[in-house]
Amino acid sequence: MPTSDVIETAATKLVQGSLVAIPTETVYGLAADASSKTAVAKIFKAKGRPNDHPLIVHIAKPTASLEVNDEESWAEQLAPWARDIPTVALTLAKSFWPGPLTMILPRAKNVLYELTGGQETVGLRCPDHPVAQALLTQFKGAVAAPSANRFGRVSPTSAQHVVDEFSGVPQSEWDEEIMVLDGGLCSVGIESTIVDLTRLDDYGPIILRPGVITKEQIEKTTGMQVGKRPEDNMRHSGGLSAHYAPKTRLLIATSENKTQLIALLKTPAKIAWLAWEAPAQFTDSIQSNLVIQTFPKDNLQAAKSLYQLLRELDAKAYDYLVFPKLPDTDEWAGVRDRLQRAAVGSGI
Ligand code: TXA
Ligand code: MG
Repeated sequence: MPTSDVIETAATKLVQGSLVAIPTETVYGLAADASSKTAVAKIFKAKGRPNDHPLIVHIAKPTASLEVNDEESWAEQLAPWARDIPTVALTLAKSFWPGPLTMILPRAKNVLYELTGGQETVGLRCPDHPVAQALLTQFKGAVAAPSANRFGRVSPTSAQHVVDEFSGVPQSEWDEEIMVLDGGLCSVGIESTIVDLTRLDDYGPIILRPGVITKEQIEKTTGMQVGKRPEDNMRHSGGLSAHYAPKTRLLIATSENKTQLIALLKTPAKIAWLAWEAPAQFTDSIQSNLVIQTFPKDNLQAAKSLYQLLRELDAKAYDYLVFPKLPDTDEWAGVRDRLQRAAVGSGI
């Protein structure tokens, strides 16, 4: 864990308008002072991200520890960033913050359009990682932080991943060196659940991106039914069908593509096959070009290891990665979503 001196240096960098990669419980983020146009512009440059994709603003938790159970304290934390804050937002904050939940709320009037993709709404999250919280407290402000990966690629869940992600990119693309705070491996492993609370009257809370906080948890906590996402042109980059993608072609084994996959096994293609357990039909004829590896049966464990696994497998010379079809249940929604998008964007 970084010492208080290192946290102080990182906070100074933020004040100076530089980028700092920070650990959060979900994935590492690429942070910049959320109130500075020039600092925020550096994020887009470093990531290679289109300018109209909104960023999440990360805020500190209330200072006194008891206050995390108090809706008024959360209202104060949110006040500089959001307006017309509905009661359910405070209920959700009290239940899940600090934690892997992002809320979309109407933006307060001084919030930069550079953060919101030009929209009237803003994404807000209070991360549950001691290093992120220490930095936010020291900095005395909020940071805009997308996942610290190049656009469209797998999110980093360790400090080394962040270094790997940016080391191949010409420095001229983002002006200056990025300071990376090492906070160990991320405990959640996939990005926060994003819930839109700006259209409650018409739709109820809307989940824009599933994560480990589930639809059922949100419904139970708010007492409202989660609405179906309307067809609209709201910009949110995790919303692209191809995302979180490895460079190696990724396939999901289903009953429909079984014949195609068995045919693939007869070719010289090198394959990493992730399975709940070794499929019976392979056990007596494991080919030298096929490696079978088990995939966690527990959804939280799967979330925690997914991106690390994708990076490791992508670094080896496989032609195909085959993953199991995941259960169609609420608790698997986050991992299922990431794997689906990884499959669509893979091999490019
Ligand atoms: O767990 C996380 O959320 C991580 C960590 C670093 O906090 N952050 C993250 O950021 O995943 P990013 O930028 O990679 O993804 C943020 C998502 C994008 O899909 C973005 O479009 C959406 O949040 N988003 C942000 N503000 C929004 C808004 N006002 N309306 C709709 N979507 C928004
Ligand atoms: Mg991202």
